[in-house]
Amino acid sequence: MRLANRVAVVTGGGSGIGAEICRAFAREGALVAVTDLRREAAEQIAAEIRDSEGQAFSWGLEVSDHTAVEDAADEIEKRLGPLDIWVNNAGISRVVPFLDCTGDLWDLIIRVNLKGTFVGCQAAIRRMLPRKRGVIVNMSSQSGKVGNSRYAAYCASKFGVIGLTQSLAREFAGQGIRVNALCPGVVFTPLWGAQLEDYARKRNIRPEDVRSYLEEKTPIGRLCTPEEVAYTAVFLASDDATYITGQAINITGGSVMH
Ligand SMILES: NC(=O)c1ccc[n+]([C@@H]2O[C@H](COP(=O)([O-])OP(=O)(O)OC[C@H]3O[C@@H](n4cnc5c(N)ncnc54)[C@H](O)[C@@H]3O)[C@@H](O)[C@H]2O)c1
Repeated sequence: MRLANRVAVVTGGGSGIGAEICRAFAREGALVAVTDLRREAAEQIAAEIRDSEGQAFSWGLEVSDHTAVEDAADEIEKRLGPLDIWVNNAGISRVVPFLDCTGDLWDLIIRVNLKGTFVGCQAAIRRMLPRKRGVIVNMSSQSGKVGNSRYAAYCASKFGVIGLTQSLAREFAGQGIRVNALCPGVVFTPLWGAQLEDYARKRNIRPEDVRSYLEEKTPIGRLCTPEEVAYTAVFLASDDATYITGQAINITGGSVMH
């Protein structure tokens, strides 16, 4: 097992990609702190992992709340042991014409996706530094590599996550802490369910045609699965990736290549 007895925190672990990362980490032997804004959703995933002989516990957590994240990190360490891995996965997305994007919506997307990642990185690095050891995986997106219409706030937040990742990778490379980002293409999770109609409007197609439209646009010819993102997270978190830091890895089926 590649993550045996490592203590791993995953934010937004109650759904979609985050839940799959929690399952994959647990299968590799990690003790997983499943955290989410929705405590019940986090507990559901943690219980499912425990039912299949994995080790997982749940915490309710708003990623942009500095005090709450620091308090939870203390509790997690007290309960599970020193932190080895922290995945800043929680995120939200909206498809909205730029001129209709209110200041409040802009602030919300930047607060959850970018400030939430900043807060998580601080909590993790503060606790990893004394042991000079740790791995951070930040969730960016293909939208962190290429801008897209009606996605200005989301793209800005995900480009920001890559800038943050590269900066921290350089700052802490000499102290045993690796920081990388994942850039998935489209994964049909609840996040997509919520923006399906707005996306269909943007493309002038029917909501029920969005999936096949996106599949046709992808060189590999299908969408990404949450498992495919989770496998890459396991790799980056493991000792198979000890010389990899500051990278933003595309999992895009060939859509983005830089
Ligand atoms: N689905 C995709 O196509 C796709 C592609 C690229 C990147 N991503 C990124 O992957 C991550 C996970 O996305 P997903 O598709 O699994 O979404 P999802 O909506 O299925 O899951 C996101 C989880 O984050 C939680 N969350 C939301 N706001 C939070 C907050 N403020 N504090 C704590 N938890 C919060 C939600 O409760 C939810 O359980 C996001 O960062 C997203 O931007 C998704």
